[in-house]
Amino acid sequence: MDRELALEMVRVTEAAAIAASRVMGRGDKIAADQAAVDAMRSALRTVAIQGRVVIGEGELDEAPMLFIGEQVGNGDGDPVDVAVDPLEGTNLVAKGMNGAIAVMAIGPAGSLLHAPDMYMDKLVTGAAGRGVLDLDAPIGDNLRALAHASGRSVSDLTVVVLDRDRHRELIAGIRDAGARIKLITDGDVTPAVAACLEGSGVDMLAGSGGAPEGVLAAAAVKCLEGEMVARLLPEDDAQRERAEAMGVRPIDRLLHLDDLIRGDDVLFVATAITDGDFLHGVRYTKDATRTESVVMRSLTGTVRFVEAEHRLEKKRRFGRTPDAGRMRA
Ligand code: FBP
Repeated sequence: MDRELALEMVRVTEAAAIAASRVMGRGDKIAADQAAVDAMRSALRTVAIQGRVVIGEGELDEAPMLFIGEQVGNGDGDPVDVAVDPLEGTNLVAKGMNGAIAVMAIGPAGSLLHAPDMYMDKLVTGAAGRGVLDLDAPIGDNLRALAHASGRSVSDLTVVVLDRDRHRELIAGIRDAGARIKLITDGDVTPAVAACLEGSGVDMLAGSGGAPEGVLAAAAVKCLEGEMVARLLPEDDAQRERAEAMGVRPIDRLLHLDDLIRGDDVLFVATAITDGDFLHGVRYTKDATRTESVVMRSLTGTVRFVEAEHRLEKKRRFGRTPDAGRMRA
C-alpha cells in the first residue's frame, strides 16, 4: 500500500473526532455517533483507495452508512479492506469521559478478519508477551509469564479490564495474582494499543469486548509488534451462522495476530476525541481546533504522533470542512 495513505487516513479520523467532540457531554450517544459517521464517510471520499468496508457500522439493513460491504474511497489506488469505528466509546463521548477515539485500519484486500458484531475474548500485551500468552490458561499464569518475560514482578503490571459482571472471575484472578487493575466503563481499543506502547502505564488488556474492536486493535498490535490472542464468543445460532458465513471456521478456534491481520502491510490510525492513555482529546482555542492522532504502519514499524491545529473557520470559507467532504489539512 502507498505510504502516503497514512496521512490521508489521519485526515479522516481527525474529521470524525472533531465532529463527535462537538456534542461531547450532551448525553446523546446517537448524535455523537452520527456526527462521527457522517464526517468520516465524507472525508473518506477523498482518499485514493478502492476501499471495501469489512468492519463498519453494521450490516446494510441496520446501518445506512459505512455498512459492511460499502465501497469507500475515490476509486483510485489499491483495493483495500477498510475497518472503521468513527466513534469508539459512544457512552464516553456522551458523558465527556476519557478514552473515546475515532479509529480506522486498512490493509490489502483480504487481509483483515471479517469479524461480525459479537463478543470476542481478548488478551493483548506488548512485545514482551510474544509467544507466552495462553487464552485458555488462568489469568494468573498469563500475568506470571508476562512478568517473567519482561523482567518485572506481577505486582508491577497493570491490566485494563472492562468493568462488567461477566468479568467478575477474571478480575478476582488478576487481584489474586497481585497485579494492578484499571477498570474501564467503555472503549477497549485504546488500552489495547496502550499495552503495546512502552511507558503508557498499561501492560495488558484482558477480557471480552466487541469483535470488530478486536480487529481494529489487532491492526495496531501488529504495527507495534505486540501480542494478541483472541476467540469469538457467539451467543446464539444466528451469531454462529454469521461468523461462519464471514469465514471464521471453526468459530471457537483460537485466533492469533496473523489470523486477525493477514500479512504484514496494515495501517492503523486513531484520533482522540476525549483524553486517553496516550493522546489528548480535541481542544478548542480562540483560533484553532487541536487534535492529536497516532498513525502507524506495520511494514516499516513507523509510529507517528500527529498534533494538528485546524483553522476550521478558514476551511469553512473555502468550503473545505469535513462536512463538505473536501477537507484538506
Ligand atoms: P460503542 O462505542 O459501540 O458504544 O462500544 C464501546 C465498547 O466499550 C467497546 O470498546 C467494547 O469492545 C464494547 O463496547 C464492549 O461491549 P459491552 O458494552 O457490551 O460490554
